[in-house]
Amino acid sequence: MSDNATLEYKGEKYDFPVIKGTEDELAIDIKTLRSLTTMTTLDPGYKNTGSCESAITFLDGEKGILRYRGYSIEELAEKADFLEVAYLLIFGELPNKEQLDAFHHDIIEESTVDEEMKKILDAFPKSAHPMGVLSSLTSALIAFNPTTVDVSSEKAMYYAIVRILAKFPILVAWTMRKKKGLPLDYGDDSLGYVENIHKMMFKRPNKEYKKNQIVIDALDKLLILHADHEQNCSTSTVRIVGSSHAGLFASLSAGISALWGPLHGGANQAVLEMLQAIEEDGGDTKKYMAKAKDKNDPFRLMGFGHRVYKNFDPRAKIIKKAADEVLGDLGIEDPILEIAKGLEKEALEDQYFVDRKLYPNVDFYSGIIYRALGIPTEMFTVMFALGRLPGWIAQWREMRLRNEPIGRPRQLYIGENSRPFVTVAKR
Ligand code: CMC
Repeated sequence: MSDNATLEYKGEKYDFPVIKGTEDELAIDIKTLRSLTTMTTLDPGYKNTGSCESAITFLDGEKGILRYRGYSIEELAEKADFLEVAYLLIFGELPNKEQLDAFHHDIIEESTVDEEMKKILDAFPKSAHPMGVLSSLTSALIAFNPTTVDVSSEKAMYYAIVRILAKFPILVAWTMRKKKGLPLDYGDDSLGYVENIHKMMFKRPNKEYKKNQIVIDALDKLLILHADHEQNCSTSTVRIVGSSHAGLFASLSAGISALWGPLHGGANQAVLEMLQAIEEDGGDTKKYMAKAKDKNDPFRLMGFGHRVYKNFDPRAKIIKKAADEVLGDLGIEDPILEIAKGLEKEALEDQYFVDRKLYPNVDFYSGIIYRALGIPTEMFTVMFALGRLPGWIAQWREMRLRNEPIGRPRQLYIGENSRPFVTVAKR
């Protein structure tokens, strides 16, 4: 028997079922609210609104828990590889060896893009931000793969997914190579998924590509940590665009644009630029702490705070440790890492940050590793998108398989009441 929550308004009582998730989270089901009361709810930024039921990712912001399909992020980052995690997120279970090999094989079969795509890339100025380029190229892929996915066919769904997992890394690599003026190339299908991505990004035309396991492992871990994060801004965008039955690639392209903003995935670029600015300004972290707390100053401590995590971001913990290890293993001494650590220490002891439960998030240390791996700052958010790809796909697939209704929020109108039109001569 389900519990009810009662809303009382002007002497009338309305009952709404309270439903429980598998982790005992409670939600008031208000599907009938408008038809019963003619009222809507008002919740800017959806801080209290569950937009869907989902079985993909669980996070508990108070306890700092993040799990994909029930597996802890700590264990996945330690023991799994990115392709296994992608399969897990999308299809719900970890693949056995046979399933994983078949999945990789099917991706390899699709790992080219139409050569005409190079002309589209060519038309962008070199100065274009890679996120804009990536979003446009992902959209352009639709023109070369125009069939809409028949979501009632498991096979059609599977091949659409495999196709984008194969082609997206090529677009990512080309986006960076274009910026660096390097020739556009394809991967090496004898390599693992992540190693192949690294080679596609970094292979120089005049040099043999040499594998560096430390670099590949670090990249693998970063991609896993970014792979899904339930109903964040870009994922909600993917779901809402897809809910109009726009295709998978169109939904992903919209998700990339949503990710670009500095309050979301764009924060990793913003963090590094902030740390660099602090270093160039003499390393005075106190000055920037004061700016972050000043309500008349728009400056925010980038890489700090999170809509959901109010204790710590488990991904940040893993990344901080990885940053230390990767820089140590690669023999890199980066003064920016020291500034980041100093800033974190000060913020964690500062009443403003303590009161508002502001902790380092996933983006605070990730840029330092990307930098150590030789990835240009403007590409950081592209790397986030690459990691988030399986999550977006999984969420799109779940939304379509559950046949969710088109996303269409209501509003509270606060504009002018009805008024007569006045012709331009009389205004
Ligand atoms: N620096 C200084 N003050 C901050 C910060 C910050 N980074 N973040 C939040 N605050 C303050 C904010 O001014 C507000 O103060 P007050 O209550 O006095 O008005 C309070 O903390 C609550 O902030 P909010 O903006 O209402 O919180 P939110 O849940 O709407 O925003 C956030 C979350 C992540 C957008 C925000 O913390 C932020 O802008 N952080 C910096 C950007 C960033 O690092 N983004 C990456 C997020 S993690 C990666 C991802 O998944 O996208």
